[in-house]
Amino acid sequence: MSGSNTYPPAPEFSAKAHVGSLDAYLELCQQAAAHPEEFWAGQAEREIEWFEKWSHVFEWRPPFVKWFVEAKLNASHNCLDRHLGKRGSKAAIIFEGEPGDKRTLTYAELHSEVCRFANVLKGRGLKPGDRAIVYMPMVPEAVVAMLACARIGVTHSVVFGGFSAEALKARIQDLDAHAVITADAGWRRGKEVRLKDAVDEAVAECPSVSSVIVHKRTGSAVSMKEGRDHWWHELEEGVTAECPAERLDAEHPLFVLYTSGTTGKPKGILHTTGGYMTYVTSTMKWVFDLKEDDVFWCSADIGWVTGHSYIVYGPLSAGATCIMYEGAPDHPQWDRWWEIIARYKATIFYTSPTAIRALIKQGEAWPAKHDLSSLRLLGSVGEPINPAAWEWYYRVIGKERCPIVDTWWQTETGGILIAPMPGAVALKPGSGTLPMPGILAEVVDFDGKPVARGAEGFLIIKRPWPSMIRTIWGDPERFEQQYFSRIPGIYFTGDAARQDEDGYFWILGRVDDVMNVSGHRLSTMEVESALVRHPAVAEAAVVGKPHEITGQAVCCFVTLKQGDWNHHELAQELRKWVAHEIGAFARPDEIRFADALPKTRSGKIMRRLLREIVTTHSVEGDVTTLEDLGVVTKLASQHDEE
Ligand code: WT7
Repeated sequence: MSGSNTYPPAPEFSAKAHVGSLDAYLELCQQAAAHPEEFWAGQAEREIEWFEKWSHVFEWRPPFVKWFVEAKLNASHNCLDRHLGKRGSKAAIIFEGEPGDKRTLTYAELHSEVCRFANVLKGRGLKPGDRAIVYMPMVPEAVVAMLACARIGVTHSVVFGGFSAEALKARIQDLDAHAVITADAGWRRGKEVRLKDAVDEAVAECPSVSSVIVHKRTGSAVSMKEGRDHWWHELEEGVTAECPAERLDAEHPLFVLYTSGTTGKPKGILHTTGGYMTYVTSTMKWVFDLKEDDVFWCSADIGWVTGHSYIVYGPLSAGATCIMYEGAPDHPQWDRWWEIIARYKATIFYTSPTAIRALIKQGEAWPAKHDLSSLRLLGSVGEPINPAAWEWYYRVIGKERCPIVDTWWQTETGGILIAPMPGAVALKPGSGTLPMPGILAEVVDFDGKPVARGAEGFLIIKRPWPSMIRTIWGDPERFEQQYFSRIPGIYFTGDAARQDEDGYFWILGRVDDVMNVSGHRLSTMEVESALVRHPAVAEAAVVGKPHEITGQAVCCFVTLKQGDWNHHELAQELRKWVAHEIGAFARPDEIRFADALPKTRSGKIMRRLLREIVTTHSVEGDVTTLEDLGVVTKLASQHDEE
């Protein structure tokens, strides 16, 4: 860790950067720490256009916070209208579909699409405070749907297109959503992902949904229910592109995004308008050093927070040109991403360590076929990046010219909290380096006391920041308990970390029962609940095990009900079952059948021991609370039922 390579910013890069020296960075941090109100008011004034200013900057009554109290603004206005004068004919979205279809939308075009669709939503009776689900492929209409909701004050909840009908239904019901915006299907590896079919299955049990609006993407047959389902293009006929942006309160709910917690039930993370917009726009300059002529590409899906903050709200609010790609990186071949970077002369590329590791495996010949010289900055997000992957990304993609910003944040934090400002902070592969101004990150022990440099502890954030989670939708108690009870009144991230001698943060992973598979958060309990819904399964315990590409993989220990089971077939079936219950990305890597699971005397499953078994194939940790030691020795000596 210490002693690893460090990469100071290149003088040419620093000379042009928004924040061009370590002193300038430290000065910003000092101002933000000493005078937070003044600092954030300055950012809000510089980065956002307000209809009305705030009476005070923030109001902190732990665990609840309000930012820019009583101010009025509109997120869609900030992403569109305010750019029309200067950037009307600038490309906002450069889109490429998986089959190869291409489309560019200027700010003026995107603005009129959004206005028209906002009028469609109004025509369906949607009004400020209502909720709409967006369950879409990665096409510009997904962005249009989000911004149209924001324009009229409808709170959107984007559900990743890889989620199953079951998962979609749970989210619609938790939100009592009024509308679902979807598409017939999307393209993934040359196959259709049939979204409308999943919506039909989900909405059958969702009485709150009165409208389903369907964008025609692939053109294949879908069933349309009279009165409830409508084609997007038909509803738009004769609708004007005049739609003033609603004057919304700074604390108006902009979106709810579900993420896995430690129970089987996903949490609806609520983000509001003023603070979120201020923060994500600020980080576009601080972390991505965004300039007017940059071509920014974030390869995430808009169904995750990365897509919300760094495909839609951050880049568009900052007036950037963004690339949006619908499909898989290996379609038709493993150079699709490099081809896209070369074709549109992307200057900033932001992706995940899982993707990088998958690309490394395919070899250097693929990127070598393309001209990647337009790139000037690279980013990483979602999980720790191992130094070997970092070095490859730096050398093979960035040609040793492009800094890599390793960005640590969470669905709950709304925007990037720990990352290098690339013109100011020296990089160390594998470290997110230092916090943004105003982010008082610390590594503490069980009692909330700071640990010594070099020691491991819990990562906490001591002061509220503008884009922080406001609550868990419909469950303020869980919100307080999850984030503000470990150390009363202080935001607990759920991650373990260590600070090195330079104060750099090294993220060590989750301390709770949350796995990180391909940079997607998944709860062990969610997979366990899915497994025990299967008629053959008596009990299940799930742990993440190290995986060379996806970081972690889902490993399940299962005990069966009485019966004559074919273990091999059942393992296949349970894999499919979990994919159907949650989504394909949750498909278990391994199913192990056991006679019994290791439990404490009080009956709690000891996942810690199972984690040890899948990681080291033996158990050396403390087993004094274990009820039956025989269970563990048997599990440790057992092999996968593959
Ligand atoms: C968890 C949050 C942030 C958007 C994508 C994931 C892990 C995230 C990093 C990083 C090490 C990271 C943490 C965090 N994580 N980024 N750069 N280095 N770990 O959002 O699904 O809310 O997951 O992902 O464990 O708590 P998420």
